[in-house]
Amino acid sequence: MVCLGNICRSPMAEGILKKLVKQYNLNWEVASAGTNDYHRGEPPHPLARKVCHIHGINIDSIRKRKFCATDFKEYDRIYAMATDVLEEMRYIAGKDFDARKAGLLMDELYPGRRISVPDPWYGPEDAFHQAYKMIENACKALVEKYAVTCCS
Ligand code: 4NP
Repeated sequence: MVCLGNICRSPMAEGILKKLVKQYNLNWEVASAGTNDYHRGEPPHPLARKVCHIHGINIDSIRKRKFCATDFKEYDRIYAMATDVLEEMRYIAGKDFDARKAGLLMDELYPGRRISVPDPWYGPEDAFHQAYKMIENACKALVEKYAVTCCS
């Protein structure tokens, strides 16, 4: 799960997907990262932590990690929270960028519509709630899709 800062959207996505993976009893490793260089080693934004906490998810122990080209070797699927993030991933990964593995998270729910999860960084608390809902809906769709194909 990748966003710009690994402070707001992608840590929420990591927490949400990990919860679903547990609920569906899947053997998936889930992680998150950010494409920019800021906030290295920092925990998620207090409002991201608060919104997740309201939904019974604890993301307090996540620490900002920068996305890197070797993530394409480590992971089977890499989801960008937004179109600009996907472009940054392409730039950072260079020749290691694998279009079969990378995609927009919201494409799991609305294929081909190229919808981004708006960055809640500057927004009020409601922006974090809205981002949470979008990410949760897309994560549910992806778990239902892959859980059926890989575990049935
Ligand atoms: P995120 O939000 O990509 O959802 O983690 C941001 C957090 C920090 C910054 C940008 C986006 N920043 O530029 O510091």
